[in-house]
Amino acid sequence: MACDVCGNLLDVVYDWDRLDVPETLRFFEQKWSRRWDPLCFSGIWRFIDLLPFAPREAVVTIGEGQTLLLPSPRVAEFVGLSGGQLHLQFEGMNPSGSFKDNGMSAAFTHARSIGAKRAACASTGNTSASLALYCAATGLMRAIIFVGSGKISYGKLSQALDHGALTVQIAGDFDDAMQRVKEVTSQLGIYLVNSVNPFRLEGQKTIMYRVLEALRWEVPDWIVVPGGNLGNSSAFGKAFAELRQLGLIDRLPRLAVINAAGASTLYELYERRGLRWNGGAVDDELIQQYYDQLDAEHRRASTIASAIEINRPVNLKKCLRALDVCDGVVRQVTDQQILDAKAQVGAGGLGCEPASAASVAGIKQLRQEGVIGAGDRVVAILTGHQLKDPTATIAYHTTDQDTFDEVLGSRGVKRASFANRAIAVANDLDEIIKAIQLYS
Ligand code: F0G
Repeated sequence: MACDVCGNLLDVVYDWDRLDVPETLRFFEQKWSRRWDPLCFSGIWRFIDLLPFAPREAVVTIGEGQTLLLPSPRVAEFVGLSGGQLHLQFEGMNPSGSFKDNGMSAAFTHARSIGAKRAACASTGNTSASLALYCAATGLMRAIIFVGSGKISYGKLSQALDHGALTVQIAGDFDDAMQRVKEVTSQLGIYLVNSVNPFRLEGQKTIMYRVLEALRWEVPDWIVVPGGNLGNSSAFGKAFAELRQLGLIDRLPRLAVINAAGASTLYELYERRGLRWNGGAVDDELIQQYYDQLDAEHRRASTIASAIEINRPVNLKKCLRALDVCDGVVRQVTDQQILDAKAQVGAGGLGCEPASAASVAGIKQLRQEGVIGAGDRVVAILTGHQLKDPTATIAYHTTDQDTFDEVLGSRGVKRASFANRAIAVANDLDEIIKAIQLYS
């Protein structure tokens, strides 16, 4: 997955002049009437003309990408945007409940074309759930997943187990698991599906195509996405750079990548230490200095948003390129901000896991700073489903102080301002009726 010469990640580059490229994005609308064709039904492959790395007959799809972009007036009010200006791209609707299926379908397409029999990943939970599902659904490969022991939520772990993945729990965190899976896959010749795999990013570009499609091909002012391993943000930047190159859009959105404060490598390097893409000549020394400092101080990533609990994002450089293309900004938000935003997303009618809510918390912060304007049209990516991490949700809404302290207090969360607390009532009709009259 890395270049033999420079050691950097590989990138998929198309020779567009030799390809049949649509003249307008409206070309893709004709696919809507052909939903019986899996390549038109899939939210990834109906855009195959924009990720033409495989012939049509090689495509692996399980019907992923049936996702929605919904306006959310309630969450707009919470973050300080004019009603109708905030749209939530709900990737939790994918078959495994997160955006990862976009990339997994693309990686499987490539893996099958080279005859891979085993596939592996390190994961904070969603990549592993997606890999396990695709292996089970297609029967093409055996899934081997590496997770940090105690580092992934139960929803995600249960998916990997239920779908039959060989689950390797490493005594360490995601960064350790990532290091190990790279060593193991290269030694054993196992196909690696982490987002170091450039085909994953090709699939994830389509999230942006679906956003544009839902906005009738109008480019929004902002795309806001949580940052973990930085595959999504990298893919989004590539998608927009290519669309511009092809003359299919005439302006670019700005990109905001939101780190959790306990896992804020990108924020630290980009906003505080001035690391930039710099035409591809990224200052490796600056990055190494920061990693050395983390090691010297024994600092590990730590956030309730376990999906993005990552200190060494493998796509760091590609993300710098995306930030360069889309005039990007990076922010960090605390676990308190994340959980309050998550509760607002839930109350507004969509459920997401903590990491996803970082995008909403980030928008609120950028509005307060005046970086995002009140009238800007903003799209937040809700990367994973609410049911992925019930522990965090229950702890936020609980009446039990011990549960709150154990799960959230330990992470600096002090309040649950938007908690919806269950009421305890005796098993007695009068008492139940009294309670309902009192609270509703
Ligand atoms: N949101 C969710 C729900 C995720 O699962 C992840 C990453 C991210 C955001 C961050 O996206 O890595 O593209 O910056 N989860 C990976 C995993 C690391 O193993 O499931 P990114």
